[in-house]
Amino acid sequence: MSQIKVAESAGFCFGVKRAIEMAYDAIGKESPLYSYGQLIHNKTVTDDLASKGVQIVDSLEGLTEGTLIIRSHGVGKALYDQATEKGLKILDGTCPFVKKIHNIVHEQKEMGRGIIIVGDGSHPEVQGINGWCENSAAILESPEAAQTAQIPPMERYAVVVQTTFRQSKYDQILDILKERGISMEVFQTICSATEKRQNETVELSQSVDKMIVIGGRNSSNTQKLVEICAKNCRNTVHIETICDLVLNNFKKDDKIGITAGASTPPAIIKEVVVTMSEALENAVQNLGGSEEATF
Ligand code: F3S
Repeated sequence: MSQIKVAESAGFCFGVKRAIEMAYDAIGKESPLYSYGQLIHNKTVTDDLASKGVQIVDSLEGLTEGTLIIRSHGVGKALYDQATEKGLKILDGTCPFVKKIHNIVHEQKEMGRGIIIVGDGSHPEVQGINGWCENSAAILESPEAAQTAQIPPMERYAVVVQTTFRQSKYDQILDILKERGISMEVFQTICSATEKRQNETVELSQSVDKMIVIGGRNSSNTQKLVEICAKNCRNTVHIETICDLVLNNFKKDDKIGITAGASTPPAIIKEVVVTMSEALENAVQNLGGSEEATF
């Protein structure tokens, strides 16, 4: 008999939930209402917000009034300054864990230290963090980059890490920096929600025949879950919504694990679970429990 197991930590994390609730709360109270970039990497949610009047902007040019929602990834200091100058009201959805990194790099920079950010330099969270230390940080996204990057000589560095980064890769990078003789204070800024989701994903993907990862294709934390699952479970599929799921790829005796990235709404996870459970029930009824039955 097939089993479906959903990871407890699948879906919205605390920070994303907080920013989304902030946006929904503001609808009807604040107008015009803008979000600086997509609030989450999920089209269903962003389409819904757009239909309720939340306009996505990627620059403040031309805005003269209204309320600006900052997403959980956060933004650099310059954007707050610009919004304030323009008289825009700010609803700050920056995740408190990301805000903590902003404060660290800002303070450390003021203390005269160099800043190293370990993370993906093209990710808005990392760009936002860099914007709190005058865009002065050395950004390292891989052990290879840590080996070869030109790091200007400074007496002491502060090292922070993108909240969604893999701990093992961070440790590798820190070892390389130590070998290079860089004097540094290391801050542990990986988010525990991410770590918890990743650890649970390792365990789940090792114990099932097939894994389904639900989340946006351009969501980096979802991509990381896919990477982890693919390592442990040959039959890993990544879907954005139920529409991407090919049900006949699953056998009736499969143990199926389901996890989801931080931007995946509960309704989408539920839809996948319910659809799979129904498909399984139908397969059992229609095929009389044949070992070859698929659903
Ligand atoms: Fe915040 Fe962690 Fe989510 S940093 S946005 S709670 S993944």
